[in-house]
Amino acid sequence: MQIPVLLAFLGLSLIVLSVMGAIALSTRGRALPQADVQAHGYALRRIWFFVLIATIALGLAVTLPRLPYAAAAGEQGARHITVVTEQFAFEMPAQLPLDTPLVFDVSAKDVNHGFGIYDPHERLIAQVQAMPGYVNHLAYTFHEAGRYTVRCLEFCGVGHAAMKASFLVQ
Ligand code: CUA
Repeated sequence: MQIPVLLAFLGLSLIVLSVMGAIALSTRGRALPQADVQAHGYALRRIWFFVLIATIALGLAVTLPRLPYAAAAGEQGARHITVVTEQFAFEMPAQLPLDTPLVFDVSAKDVNHGFGIYDPHERLIAQVQAMPGYVNHLAYTFHEAGRYTVRCLEFCGVGHAAMKASFLVQ
């Protein structure tokens, strides 16, 4: 892994150095009048502004409709599981059913927390923010029996690192 990273770093460094070198060489001639430079700079900035706006608009148009939270809230026939978080614990059932569509309704009593579910092999499989004053919905169906771990994924205070829980799926 280290060698590809080193090569990528060297490659990028070379590109940056080349660009800086090109800029340095381009300034060796006589200085242009400020008015010319300014007009050119403003024109470039205007184009860049519209490119950025278009990129952001396109990104939002493509990604916003795919947010899973609204769909999870309305999931038909799913069993809703209430999860309340607080410094530094999760209040939730100790057992959950296998092969049953579930929707976790996640909120917080005090500050922002994270609700991250890890499968029996310690892989993060689903997560949502836990926020005071909101209920966020996370849809998930467990297809593997075993003990799952829940960890807070948002720095929430001195006990953050120890904020975890577990539940059994069977
Ligand atoms: Cu709760 Cu970090």
